[in-house]
Amino acid sequence: MKDLISLHDLTADEVQDLLKLALRLKAELKAGIPHPILKGKTLGMIFTKSSTRTRVSFEVGMTQLGGYPLFLSSNDIQLGRGETIHDTAKVLERYLDGIMIRTYAHSDVIELAKEASIPVINALTDLLHPCQVLADLMTAYEHKGRLEGLKFAYIGDGNNMAHSIMYGCAKAGLDCAIATPSGHHCDAEVVDNAKADFKASGKTLLLTEDPVEAIKDADVVYTDTWVSMGQEKEKEERIKAFDGYCVDLKLFKNAKDDAVFMHCLPAYRGFEVTEDVIDGPQSVIFDEAENRLHAQKAVMATLMG
Ligand code: CP
Ligand code: NVA
Repeated sequence: MKDLISLHDLTADEVQDLLKLALRLKAELKAGIPHPILKGKTLGMIFTKSSTRTRVSFEVGMTQLGGYPLFLSSNDIQLGRGETIHDTAKVLERYLDGIMIRTYAHSDVIELAKEASIPVINALTDLLHPCQVLADLMTAYEHKGRLEGLKFAYIGDGNNMAHSIMYGCAKAGLDCAIATPSGHHCDAEVVDNAKADFKASGKTLLLTEDPVEAIKDADVVYTDTWVSMGQEKEKEERIKAFDGYCVDLKLFKNAKDDAVFMHCLPAYRGFEVTEDVIDGPQSVIFDEAENRLHAQKAVMATLMG
């Protein structure tokens, strides 16, 4: 494993190892046991999109591992003025021990990883958000005591979160149900890859337009914004398209009684989810946010250690 671009690229064992390490690093941190695994190493963090959780959790995580995080806004580096990914990769590999990148085109991250001799971590593209799903699987494990055989339901846009959730569930042995409206289904190539992963895991993948069918008896209920970064101009049209896909209490009650509610955040209350669900007793959104720190430390320690 040189890079973390997609959970589809990992074996089931590699996903398990990352989750185990994340749980260990979390326990050590809480016990005050230092773990300077990346002492003296530097992570470059390229952002061409906004971020709260990703930026802060990577910076803090790298610091806790004894390394140095270097924030590189695309507004400030020459990449934003048209320098090629190839040249950027060849220069940065001379200074850094790893690169984390959040950007639009998934192909840019694949190219960066191909060109750079150092590890590249995908911190969100238009297609995938693997670091978020590692944190979400870790959170589900902490709340349910297992992952194997859980049912994970995602309601909403067939976006980067839906895609990474499919891959993550297949690799970690969960059943997965995705409800998306017509015109906003998941990417066909990702679905094909995910189907192959589910075949290998022996678990089920349900793709439907019916949120009630998807959420039925779920252990984990997940949603995400209907308007991802870069789609701001489509906001009005999207709000209409997602009518009926809001995770409100009535819909949530179709899940198991002890289901947990998850959201990668940022959330837009009153659109994809109502306040009584996201701020209710079954919501674990801030555990997910915290676990970004621990899961990404496991990724950095594994790739850069
Ligand atoms: N969930 C997530 O990636 O949040 P940020 O956009 O704040 O990094
Ligand atoms: N789907 C959202 C996730 C944000 C963490 C987006 O891409 O904007």
